[in-house]
Amino acid sequence: MRNRRMGRNVVAVLAAALLVGGAAACGNSDTGGDGGGNEKIVLGFSQVGAESGWRTANTTSIKEAAAEAGIELKFDDAQQKQENQIKAIRNFIQQQVDVIAFSPVVESGWDTVLKEAKDAGIPVILTDRAVDSPDKTLYKTFLGSDFVKEGRLSGEWLVENTKDATGPVNIVELQGSTGSAPANDRKEGFAEAIAANPNLKVIASQSGEFTRAGGKQVMEQFLKANPKIDVLFAHNDDMGLGALEAITAAGKTPGKDIIIITIDAVKDGMQALADGKFNFIAECSPLLGPQLMDLVKKVHAGEEVPERIETEETTFTQEQAKAALPSRKY
Ligand code: AHR
Repeated sequence: MRNRRMGRNVVAVLAAALLVGGAAACGNSDTGGDGGGNEKIVLGFSQVGAESGWRTANTTSIKEAAAEAGIELKFDDAQQKQENQIKAIRNFIQQQVDVIAFSPVVESGWDTVLKEAKDAGIPVILTDRAVDSPDKTLYKTFLGSDFVKEGRLSGEWLVENTKDATGPVNIVELQGSTGSAPANDRKEGFAEAIAANPNLKVIASQSGEFTRAGGKQVMEQFLKANPKIDVLFAHNDDMGLGALEAITAAGKTPGKDIIIITIDAVKDGMQALADGKFNFIAECSPLLGPQLMDLVKKVHAGEEVPERIETEETTFTQEQAKAALPSRKY
């Protein structure tokens, strides 16, 4: 912690001045450090929630990586609410943690609390999702995927795989949580990729909140309101998996009567792809923990870090999913 550390630094300087060689700074048993003057870095992390398989894998990655890196993690689950995240960040500031990291539920509305962290001298790292603050000095770096690219890759696959279609191709879109960066960006990338093809038309688009229950419920509505649906583009696997139930209940065969494209590539999604129920997945990796802990150490040490670090990702067809599934970690 910051105050304790400052106090201990003073002790260390005095000790060094008084003792010639060999004398170590005093240990402190309540710090969680190694007793040799190396206190643990304290990281306050505010997670979006537990809405999807992706999120669960992301939380596990962060907790495991913190333990591995010897970083003390104060973890908060915001249950998909921005107000909870703001409260958590203010608590972290009050507790004087060394570094704050968070995955913002939505893109807007962070400037005030980020300024409070900056004024308190606590560096902030954005992970997984970005904020739309124009002031880039409010955070040190953003580690995460290129969501626009994920949407674009999904759209490009569809363009390629419907190139022989003679009539209109009706698409329904299950958006992620309203106002979140992945929902905004994936929608944008997909729309951009299909724009030049007048045959490809998004006939309905609604949020399923990134959850299976949301995906099922909204897909049921889509199916009732639209007699001809050719394609489902779901902003994550979980919504796609929920939609499978609605599609089957409506007497249609997923993957055949309706082409299904999703994003994430978590195990259950990959299984659906390998089973022929999904047709294509653009990967979004949740395994951000090790890179995040590396950045935490660097910003805590005052080192410069790149302002944007993009996660490496790929895409999967049905055949590629079959090959990748046995070694899939999450
Ligand atoms: O921000 C990443 C997105 O959030 C994932 O695609 C989705 O599954 C999650 O809930």
